[in-house]
Amino acid sequence: MILSIPQGARILATGSAVPDLCINNQHLSQIVETSDDWIVNRTGIKERRILADKEKSIIDLASSASMNALQKASMKPLDIDLIILATSSPNDLFGSAGQLQASIGAHKAIAFDLTAACSGFVLAIVTATQFIQNGSYNNILVVGADVLSKWINWTDRSTCILFGDAAGAAIVQSCSQEDNGILGFQLNTDGKKAYQLSIPYEQNNYKTINNKTLKIVQGQFKHIVMNGKEVYKFAVSHVPVSILQCLNSLNILPKDIHWLLLHQANERILHAVANRLSISPNKIISNLSKYGNTSAASIPLALDEALNSQKIANNDIIVISGFGAGLTWGTVVIKWKCK
Ligand code: COA
Repeated sequence: MILSIPQGARILATGSAVPDLCINNQHLSQIVETSDDWIVNRTGIKERRILADKEKSIIDLASSASMNALQKASMKPLDIDLIILATSSPNDLFGSAGQLQASIGAHKAIAFDLTAACSGFVLAIVTATQFIQNGSYNNILVVGADVLSKWINWTDRSTCILFGDAAGAAIVQSCSQEDNGILGFQLNTDGKKAYQLSIPYEQNNYKTINNKTLKIVQGQFKHIVMNGKEVYKFAVSHVPVSILQCLNSLNILPKDIHWLLLHQANERILHAVANRLSISPNKIISNLSKYGNTSAASIPLALDEALNSQKIANNDIIVISGFGAGLTWGTVVIKWKCK
């Protein structure tokens, strides 16, 4: 979809935060039957960060990432009109964005959660862009944060090796059409395959309440369940199509992009997608060896690191794609505009 509305939108600054506790593959091999060799060869992951401090929550990570981005943008929390928190591991089922708003003191901002797992950041950037282009808001804080360590079955070696905790933030701001940095997007959902990657809600048996006047069913969310092989096949087949559709709509050829920033799930997925599009491997942005799959945080965390290391230059074209539970997948193409 090409965005052709007079009001431009661009990412002004990014920030990120990870917990202190670092768990490497050696540590994991003491918990489940696995090895550093197996994990590195199959995923590219060497270590991940875990939020283990009982006093801290996803809000602490999201707040640090947000303050980091605000500082780089030379903005104050009160300048923010809207906060979109992309997360699938909130500390409140009613939503955590309100707590983030209070924690950073962004008292003028509306705040809501957006649940789309590993595609969450892409969907949140696209959502923020709509609010800017229709003139509703000027300064939007988009945060991708997840603490999937809370939802992992730590005895399941097929999933516990993959995930880590983190938060990443981006300030999306209105700008002139000439400075527009969010060029276009392409989004998809296939709900029929939702069961391939899920944190299912499981019901208990009927419970009678108060002398049998009320018969009710309650339950709880369980651990992450995933069909790794199917999710892998889905990512390498569907993500290149989404990227091509988005680039075609913008008349950009894959060879003309500067950076490919995919959701950091598996090094083999990053290379397979680049290979299918004939994109040179040295254009792949990758940091998953240090953090694993941090779900909604992975893209803003990698973007922030790439910007901090001055990899990305003014007017560089960055293709960003998220994919994961839902199943959801999608692409947003950005032209980087330095402040
Ligand atoms: N350590 C050692 N062996 C392991 C293991 C681990 N952590 N996990 C699985 N194995 C074993 C399996 O039991 C199996 O053994 P078997 O051949 O004796 O039955 C063997 O390794 C191969 O397992 P398989 O599941 O076929 O491996 P794979 O090559 O598909 O790799 C994933 C597994 C999870 C790394 C891979 O499927 C993947 O990355 N999928 C995508 C997952 C993803 O990105 N999810 C998030 C998307 S947002």
